Amino acid sequence: MKKNTPAPDAPRSLTFNILRYNPQEAGTAPRLQPYQIEEADSMTLFIALNEIRAQQDPTLQFDFVCRAGICGSCAMMVNGRPQLACRTLTQTLPTETTLAPLPFFELIGDLSVNTGKWLRGMSERLQTWLHTVTTPDLDRIEARMAPEVAEAIYELDRCIECGCCVAACGTAQMRHDFVGAVGMGKIARFRLDPRDTRTDDDYFDLIGDDSGVFGCMSLLACHDVCPKSLPLQTQIAFLRRKMVSIG
Ligand code: SF4
Ligand code: SF4
Ligand code: FES
Repeated sequence: MKKNTPAPDAPRSLTFNILRYNPQEAGTAPRLQPYQIEEADSMTLFIALNEIRAQQDPTLQFDFVCRAGICGSCAMMVNGRPQLACRTLTQTLPTETTLAPLPFFELIGDLSVNTGKWLRGMSERLQTWLHTVTTPDLDRIEARMAPEVAEAIYELDRCIECGCCVAACGTAQMRHDFVGAVGMGKIARFRLDPRDTRTDDDYFDLIGDDSGVFGCMSLLACHDVCPKSLPLQTQIAFLRRKMVSIG
């Protein structure tokens, strides 16, 4: 008898096992809930989750804003690896995928976490803004900056604050005060900026301990998972050398 095999280009059936938990609902426990959908051409994980929410379960919580890898809000654990849902094509995934919220950050519900709360605290602690003694004069032409310096600053400014580097970081899982690769990247960015008047001694006060560069184990999971391919490896190594020379 002739076997009923699917055509070679038949769409795959995808199963998403999603970690469901709403900390606001007393008495509930985390559980894995499976959902099945049919894969479409060029489908992203973001599109798949929207389809699940629209057609199967309106209670499913996850975040997105830009759908273009810019806002950093759709990061989640995809088969144990932090990545952006909107930049993950389902064709790169097996037929069965487990989704969980980023660890480390405060859980809002299901796949949604409050990265903003932690990032704001980190930014305030590291003072990730320009420190300058000159008062800006809006009527004057801006001060010039060497193109290669502007380029290097821009390279680090591409960080979208998605939290993937922190979610992948062994040190961050052990100590909540660790500033993570995102924090060290920001210090590296202001260190490069000729308008910032802070010295390396000032930066040492901010990251010269185990919650900063000396807590980093240099295993570089952050570098491997950063969706914007920031040069985290080079920057962390450079900052550590600088801080060692001061300490
Ligand atoms: S290299 Fe440092 S910051 Fe990056 S993941 Fe490892 S411990 Fe965390
Ligand atoms: S450094 Fe990379 S992984 Fe970390 S928050 Fe910025 S963009 Fe995300
Ligand atoms: S929705 Fe903005 S980065 Fe994915």
